[in-house]
Amino acid sequence: MTSRMPADVALRVPGIVYGADYNPEQWPEGVWAEDMRLMRVAGVNMLSVGVFSWALLEPAEGRYDFSRMDRILDMLHGNGIAANLATPTAAPPAWFFRAYPDALPVDRDGRTLSFGSRQTFCPSSPAYRQAALRIVETVADRYATHPALVMWHVHNEYGCHNAACYCDTSAAAFRTWLRVRYDNDLDRFNEAWGTSVWSQRYYSWDEILPPRATGADPNPMHRLDWKRFCSDELLSLYTAEREVLRRVAPDIPATTNFMVMRTIDALDYWRWAPHVDIVSNDHYVLADDPEAEVDIALSGDLVRSLGGGRPWLLMEHSTGAVNWQHVNRAKRPGEMYRNALAHVAHGADGIAFFQWRAAGIGAEQWHSAMLPHAGTDSQIWHDVVRLGTDLRALAEIRGSTGAARVAVVWDWDARWALELPSQPSGKLRYQDLVRDWYAPLWRAGIAVDFIRADDDLNDYRLVLVPSLYLVDDTAAANLTTYAEGGGTLAVGFHSGAVDENCHVRLGGYPGAFREVLGVRTDELFPLLPGRTVALAGDVPQGATASLWSERVRLIQAEAVVTFADGDLAGVPAVTRRGHGEGAAWYLATRPEPAALRHLLDRICREAGVHPEQPAAAGIEMVRRRGADADYLFLIDHAGGGGEVAANGVELLTGKPIEGFVVVPPGGAAVVREPR
Ligand code: GAL
Repeated sequence: MTSRMPADVALRVPGIVYGADYNPEQWPEGVWAEDMRLMRVAGVNMLSVGVFSWALLEPAEGRYDFSRMDRILDMLHGNGIAANLATPTAAPPAWFFRAYPDALPVDRDGRTLSFGSRQTFCPSSPAYRQAALRIVETVADRYATHPALVMWHVHNEYGCHNAACYCDTSAAAFRTWLRVRYDNDLDRFNEAWGTSVWSQRYYSWDEILPPRATGADPNPMHRLDWKRFCSDELLSLYTAEREVLRRVAPDIPATTNFMVMRTIDALDYWRWAPHVDIVSNDHYVLADDPEAEVDIALSGDLVRSLGGGRPWLLMEHSTGAVNWQHVNRAKRPGEMYRNALAHVAHGADGIAFFQWRAAGIGAEQWHSAMLPHAGTDSQIWHDVVRLGTDLRALAEIRGSTGAARVAVVWDWDARWALELPSQPSGKLRYQDLVRDWYAPLWRAGIAVDFIRADDDLNDYRLVLVPSLYLVDDTAAANLTTYAEGGGTLAVGFHSGAVDENCHVRLGGYPGAFREVLGVRTDELFPLLPGRTVALAGDVPQGATASLWSERVRLIQAEAVVTFADGDLAGVPAVTRRGHGEGAAWYLATRPEPAALRHLLDRICREAGVHPEQPAAAGIEMVRRRGADADYLFLIDHAGGGGEVAANGVELLTGKPIEGFVVVPPGGAAVVREPR
């Protein structure tokens, strides 16, 4: 992959980063020395500090108190621990809202939210921007040359709680954004938004409002452009902070922790990633996810891909339970260790937690941490120390990356559009559709990069497009050229349906991909919840599909699978059109996992993509590629352990490996394979 990142600004921490959010301000200072001692035991080498410290740093407008932060940073430096110093702008203080009540956000129903938690501000508020940039500059001026400082942690999880504000100030900012997007051309704007429907024509920019609660289904473009605007609006806050930091401390890299996980979809990280020096991500396992390891792998590959293939930092995950799910389950024995190593396997050069010491007070008092309430006589502490030891043994993998021949298209615009109201089915979930396709590849140990549909595809033997409802002409042409040039392309149902303005591509589905796939659908038949349809053809006996079906007609393709019952019995469900060396596949339904695995096996085989070696069941197999060695990660999620063919040195034990390596039950092995 080619990197889209700015020039390298190196992170001055040797080996693999290990640490956490550190909030010593929540504890009496007498506790800090003990923290330092235990951090050394655990092998902590970097901490995020000051993430929510605005109220303590600036007790009144323009009055600062740096005494505590001075002591914290000096203490970290004295103990050889690097500081990832946060700009504290995710939690403006109470005095700020008292002085600037207009900076409070308004929700979709018109309710003004109150001070009382964090990230409760209007992203378009000039008062917020001004106050934020002032505290950023003041902090940067004070600490730019502090020896502990190695990185800026800008804000925290943009869009986690403040993705959208519907107030009048935001409305004005939205209009400005729209005028830029549509070249100040109101006719063009009306055309794009399709405002001839339901009397929605706008005769003045001033008539446009945020998509506040309304009586019936909203105009999809109103919602979609709003999502785009909200992502850009937060990005402009980030870049404004970043500019201040770059001016004051040009050699210190900056990051902001992304959230490439299942529940948050506020930001288009393809647009964000070029603005961070090092991509970082937060990942939390969802309690009801039966296979969270797939989510971790997918998220890791996506984060690595956002950085153009470069290693990234896991800025937050948890040692055990979180506090914000319905029921917060503890992690199973060894799960935290496997989670952490899986992030490393997928490209993380750093592993950090929220947070160092479990809080005794406040909203997150029931969130796990590296040092639990129970203290060091605890399983979590034992696991934390062991993980620190093992990460030190992996120091040499730093900087190595992945090497994939398969690309999966990932697109936030398409995701947002797919999940808008007024779709043929309200059950379409973008991440589920991508994960359906990702999981069998993950199981087979086939490495994957995520790409944009308009990226250069030449490095890939196979390009998978599980879901791309919305696609512009350029991206559609790029994928078409790839397949026509002999690449193998596979496209999931309801893709290519609309252009970037959510206008249906007329003449039959799947609109933009009709030609390259050689099929034409005249009507969509989404399936009701709980309904399945039988499949026949090149799928396992008795296979079914759910969620979606279409009346597909073959134009220049063959049917590989057909629907075997229901309204569409006998109609093609999976098609293939040969293009010279390659082929273009269409999956017009959601096959059950075994059937999808079977199809993807065939698609991979035909594309010349093979699992590099058969892994034992339940053992994740991933390679990172270094300058003169590969690093084979084997992680046993199933608990049975096993033997895997390998040669080299197992880094966690330091033992030479000849022929095969033993993966301990529920554990991991990492083999340096010389090249
Ligand atoms: C993250 C957040 C952290 C902490 C954590 C708890 O979303 O960045 O500050 O709240 O969740 O899981």
